[in-house]
Amino acid sequence: MSASSDEPILRVEGLRKNYGSRAVCDGISFDLWPGEVLAVVGESGAGKTSLLKCLSGQTPIDAGHAFYRNAKGREIDIAASDETLLKRLQRTEWGLIHQNPRDGLRFGVSAGANVGERLMALGARHYGNIRHEAGDWLQRLEISGDRIDDLPSKFSGGMQQRLQIARNLVTKPRLVFMDEPTGGLDVSVQARLLDLLRVLVRDLGLAAVLVTHDLAVARLLGDRLLVMKDGKAVELGLVDQVLDDPQTPYAQLLVSSVLQI
Ligand SMILES: Nc1ncnc2c1ncn2[C@@H]1O[C@H](COP(=O)(O)OP(=O)(O)OP(=O)(O)O)[C@@H](O)[C@H]1O
Ligand SMILES: [Mg+2]
Repeated sequence: MSASSDEPILRVEGLRKNYGSRAVCDGISFDLWPGEVLAVVGESGAGKTSLLKCLSGQTPIDAGHAFYRNAKGREIDIAASDETLLKRLQRTEWGLIHQNPRDGLRFGVSAGANVGERLMALGARHYGNIRHEAGDWLQRLEISGDRIDDLPSKFSGGMQQRLQIARNLVTKPRLVFMDEPTGGLDVSVQARLLDLLRVLVRDLGLAAVLVTHDLAVARLLGDRLLVMKDGKAVELGLVDQVLDDPQTPYAQLLVSSVLQI
């Protein structure tokens, strides 16, 4: 059986995450379809990063469910999966792009090794091929081939972020989790990176959950939009629909820029 596009790649049902006695995600439900980008917005502390960490197996889910449909078409209950399976998914079928490249790169090895080791995790062994493909991906992310042996610490913030993206996309993940991927960057660097991301998402047909506080980023990259407040989903719909005609008072405030998120 192979994965089909008429079934969600991710099904989230009543997901809850507690820290202490407080629910920081509470009753979150949505389906994500193959090739779809769901943007998640909301003010600081709304629970966006916590949701992303639950979905990507980085922190336990306390109640509810998240089901991931894997490449073989089998649904995996993320809350019930062990660490080994989750780590394997993170290395293979999923991509995790962190706001801070320090959390998503290995700073002790070269740029080429950062990209190549994802391929090796999938079983690639031929050094020449791995180096060639790593070089290709660096170029796709506009990092020149002669930087392949440099350490990430020699790169600018924008380059490090592009390297992190190359490292994640080289294995053609089916589902990518991104937390503020352009967050810490200068505006001009952000614009170019967003452009690159938009093309890659489209060309690779990626499904993604994208956390952002920037409604322009949500508009550019997202198909649907989930608005969160105090751990709850307050609105979910097509990006253009929610941004042009928000239905709930909170989403209306958010869109009218009265709220700084
Ligand atoms: N490890 C943790 N231990 C305790 N509380 C936490 C932990 N991580 C997050 N929280 C709390 O959970 C709530 C939601 O945090 P989260 O980081 O998910 O918000 P966010 O929407 O990503 O905010 P931001 O836009 O500032 O990144 C916050 O009140 C935060 O203090
Ligand atoms: Mg966050």
